[in-house]
Amino acid sequence: MASSDVILETEGLTKSFLGFVAVQDVTFTLRRGHIHAVIGPNGAGKTTFFNLLTKFLQPTRGRILYKGEDITGLKPAEIARRGVVRSFQISATFPHLTVLENVRIALQRHTGTAYHFWKPEETLHVLHERARELLREVGLEGEADRLAVELPYGRKRALEIATTIALEPELILLDEPTQGMGHEDIDRVKALIQRVAKGRTVLMVEHNMSVIADISDRITVLQRGQILAEGPYSEVSKDPRVIEAYLGQGH
Ligand SMILES: Nc1ncnc2c1ncn2[C@@H]1O[C@H](COP(=O)(O)OP(=O)(O)O)[C@@H](O)[C@H]1O
Ligand SMILES: [Mg+2]
Repeated sequence: MASSDVILETEGLTKSFLGFVAVQDVTFTLRRGHIHAVIGPNGAGKTTFFNLLTKFLQPTRGRILYKGEDITGLKPAEIARRGVVRSFQISATFPHLTVLENVRIALQRHTGTAYHFWKPEETLHVLHERARELLREVGLEGEADRLAVELPYGRKRALEIATTIALEPELILLDEPTQGMGHEDIDRVKALIQRVAKGRTVLMVEHNMSVIADISDRITVLQRGQILAEGPYSEVSKDPRVIEAYLGQGH
């Protein structure tokens, strides 16, 4: 595999909590442009793995390489600045602002002082245009002037994704993007993930097997902190060890 095809790698990534090993010796490769799902029974270490990647947790052992560079020692904000953004975490929405204002704030936060030398009204105009473009990208253009708090649950997730892509990520991490959703919202979020994955890479923890089957290029199965299986859905879903790990949990 050419190294430019790989956006993120971990080598022997390990996290212990007072002797309990939540993530154990995970050596993992994420290919650029892929939608890659991480699955596994409850307590398998999925969220801990994500927390290690975004540096909310410091690994006990191992390395994380992003675009070939060792980022193991970086802070969460530095990781985000390099283009690794986790949705539903950094980009919390403001319920009593409008949908458009929420996206504009995310854009302002990202650009910081980049527009400083422009006249204020020009800056506002540019931000407005970009915000509308992002709302179109996530299918919220019709809701621009609604308060975020008024949006139905699935649409809120779309707004969160808009505020995430406002930060111009190259790699988006989604922790259970369809959690708590009904069929209709799940279908919309599925389509949305596919849309935002164009020109980006998506790594997601997801439980819904139909979502995984439909949109993921590759799947990593974690069990007790270790990689149990890896590959495309068609292979992984037939793996007896994977079936057992799930049946054993009542999935
Ligand atoms: N801060 C922590 N301190 C101690 N144990 C933790 C901590 N975070 C997670 N764990 C443990 O690590 C294991 C993996 O948790 P987690 O990563 O949340 O799993 P998953 O997201 O796959 O359900 C669980 O047994 C959990 O109790
Ligand atoms: Mg979790």
